[in-house]
Amino acid sequence: MVAVAILAAGRGTRMKSDLPKVLHSVGGKSMVERVLDGLAAIQPERIFVIVGFGQEKVQAALAHIPNLTFVHQSEQLGTGHAVQQVIPHLEGFEGDLLVLNGDVPLLRPETICTLVQTHRDNRNAATLLTAQFADPTGYGRVFCTDQSIVTEIVEHRDCSPAQRQNPRINAGVYCFNWPKLMEVLPHLQSDNDQQEYYLTDVMKDLSPAMAVDVADCQEIFGINSRQQLAEAYAMLQERIKTQWMAAGVTLIDPDSITIDTTVHIEPDVVIEPQTHLRGHTSIGTGSRIGPGSMIEDSQIGPNTTITFSVISDSIVAAGAKVGPYAHLRGHAVVGENCRIGNFVELKKATLGKGTNVAHLSYLGDATLGQQVNVGAGTITANYDGYKKHPTVIGDRTKTGSNSVLVAPITVGADVTIAAGSVVRKDVPDDCLVVSRAPQKIHEGWKPAHLREANPSAELPPS
Ligand code: UD1
Ligand code: CA
Repeated sequence: MVAVAILAAGRGTRMKSDLPKVLHSVGGKSMVERVLDGLAAIQPERIFVIVGFGQEKVQAALAHIPNLTFVHQSEQLGTGHAVQQVIPHLEGFEGDLLVLNGDVPLLRPETICTLVQTHRDNRNAATLLTAQFADPTGYGRVFCTDQSIVTEIVEHRDCSPAQRQNPRINAGVYCFNWPKLMEVLPHLQSDNDQQEYYLTDVMKDLSPAMAVDVADCQEIFGINSRQQLAEAYAMLQERIKTQWMAAGVTLIDPDSITIDTTVHIEPDVVIEPQTHLRGHTSIGTGSRIGPGSMIEDSQIGPNTTITFSVISDSIVAAGAKVGPYAHLRGHAVVGENCRIGNFVELKKATLGKGTNVAHLSYLGDATLGQQVNVGAGTITANYDGYKKHPTVIGDRTKTGSNSVLVAPITVGADVTIAAGSVVRKDVPDDCLVVSRAPQKIHEGWKPAHLREANPSAELPPS
């Protein structure tokens, strides 16, 4: 049995932010959510999140995650004091307590799993993740025997010059046997440089406490500043891109591409430069995305091409071509083999198979059938300044260039709308609609300065 305590009560002064540090986002997800994701492989019995600074914000941001217990730490008196807050919640608990810092977001589930397994296999009182850093400045130093048994952890600021030479650092990730931790945790002292109750001080009284070096040092990167936030983002991006390339995705100029961890990409997708995939987005096999595109919370089917376009909250089905310079948003649904061309905006518009909207259009709150051809410059006038209204267009209908469909309106199937029409009333199937001023021709008319005989002659009535 494992319980987890995530330390997330600190302000993160060096972030210089009103937002609690652990809520700052790394690649589309807050740090603390990433820490929670790291628990995927261990199925904890209970998860405590220790909150303090900005606790309402932290609780609201994590409200969608089930089975979290928020524990209030009213004053931030140190990491040991933070863990002391769970004591009333774990009375009689016989299992292990995993403690994670909320500002260490790149830990992998496998690493946590290995830590817990090592802890159990060796029947340790405590097991902690460590690493050997070329520059260990700022971290707590871990002192061990040759067998990796921890004798002491000393914070950087409390170290003697000789102790600072020790490159082995404390990652802030621990697994404790709870009954054994309970023998020492209530008795922590704050006799250190910061006058805080350090969790790390329990190590000298726990036996055995074992250090486990982490294989990939990037995992335990802790974030205290915006600079480190950017460094963590870069590490995460490298990890994500390496994973997708190994899974059969081509990234052209990977440095110019960003991909959130929540994105799914099938093999044989090509992502071109300057493309950004965000949120809950998926890309089907054989698709070519970019250059210069942003896709957020959208499902893109197989064998599509998306060029220089912005797509959010939308669906694009197989074989569709989008762009250059298209904008799909607000639940646009583009059917199979549709073509959405330059300067086209779709908002809450559903298009059947093989429908084309090739140039300069706005379709909002619209439902189009199959094989509709939307002429250049066609606009749905969906907003009367007060309410949005729907437009419905039947299969195989053709709207002329520059036509305006004044919603609410239903246009049938196999209709042809003449160019420049302003269509205000419903249209039945199989017909031609012409709704514009009739064309008049005034033969022999010339502009005044070209009229030789009588330059002031009256113009014909218009
Ligand atoms: C801590 C460790 C240090 C380790 C480093 C790794 C201690 C005493 N030191 O130092 O050995 O090398 O992490 O990153 O534990 N927090 C609370 N309540 C508090 C104080 C802190 O919830 O009263 C939370 C913070 O929000 C943060 C985490 O605990 O998420 C770590 O606190 P921080 O002050 O950043 O500790 P470090 O100085 O980094
Ligand atoms: Ca820290």
